[in-house]
Formats: sequence, structure tokens, C-alpha cells
Amino acid sequence: MKRAVYPGTFDPVTFGHLDIIERSSRIFDEVIVGILVNHAKVPLFTVEERLEMIERAVRQMPNVKVMSFDGLLIDFAKSQDAGFLVRGLRAVTDFEYELQMTQTNKVIAPEIDTIFLTTSLKYSYLSSSTVKELASFGSDIDRFVPAHVADRIKEKYRK
Ligand code: PNS
Repeated sequence: MKRAVYPGTFDPVTFGHLDIIERSSRIFDEVIVGILVNHAKVPLFTVEERLEMIERAVRQMPNVKVMSFDGLLIDFAKSQDAGFLVRGLRAVTDFEYELQMTQTNKVIAPEIDTIFLTTSLKYSYLSSSTVKELASFGSDIDRFVPAHVADRIKEKYRK
């Protein structure tokens, strides 16, 4: 059984993330989307909100599970008996940070491998931060996130 964890902050999930999740679900027997309970950042959405939005977006993917985790990613992957981590690479600018994180994880847990998927070209510019910034200025975000996520973001900025 090839099980992978696709970790991230997902604040909120975008079409770029969903593209990686969908493609991973065709490679692995099971994919666990791991949402980091990140104490360092103040997210727009609570972990429960992020979890709910992703669950709704992956309903049609039966081998995808959504969970949250606190602490080290490697410990979470081990607790789920996952042999792989998946990360998306958008551009060269992502690479240095990703390489450092991957190599650190590899030293801590040599039995777990990180697999990189390059983001589809049509989403290569997309990030949760830019979606939030656009929404905060009232710009249309329907092209970047599923409708139910767009509604939740707009709701946050209306408040
Ligand atoms: O979506 P993001 O914010 O780029 O995801 C980053 C994430 C969650 C993958 C990374 O911050 C992480 O793994 N955090 C958990 C703590 C950890 O394991 N740190 C050691 C990695 S070097």
C-alpha cells in the first residue's frame, strides 16, 4: 500500500493544491492531505474551516483523506504509516526552501521520500496569499478557488 501525505497550510485551498491532490491520488493508493496547525502564522481560516473546505473539494476522490496535524510533519507521516510526502513546485523560487525542508526530513526519517510534482502551467502563478490579497481588495477570485471556498473568503473580508 503506497500512502502519501500532502502537507500544507492550505489557508485556503486553491485550484493549484487541488490539481496536485488529484494527480497524487492517481499515483498513490491513498493520499492524506495534512493541514498544519501552524502556531507561527495567524491564518485567515481556522483549521476546522480549512479541513471542511478541502473535504468538500475532494469528495469525488475516494482515496483522499483530510486530516490536521500539529508538530513535525515526519512524525505525522510516521503515525499514518505513510512512506511518501508530496510537494508541489511552482517555480525555481520554491526550490531552495523545498530542498532544505526535504533534506532535513530525509535526515530525520530516511525511510520517507519526498516526491515533487510540478504545478500545472495554468496554476503556476497561484498561491493562497495572492488569492487572499485579491479578495481583500474586492477582486474576483472565482478562477482560483472552488465556489464554496470563494464564498467563504468573501464572507471573511466582508466582516
Ligand atoms: O503550505 P506551506 O505553508 O508551504 O507548508 C509548509 C509545511 C506545512 C509543509 C511545513 O511548514 C511543515 O512541514 N511544517 C511542520 C513542521 C516540520 O515538520 N518542520 C520541519 C520541516 S524542515
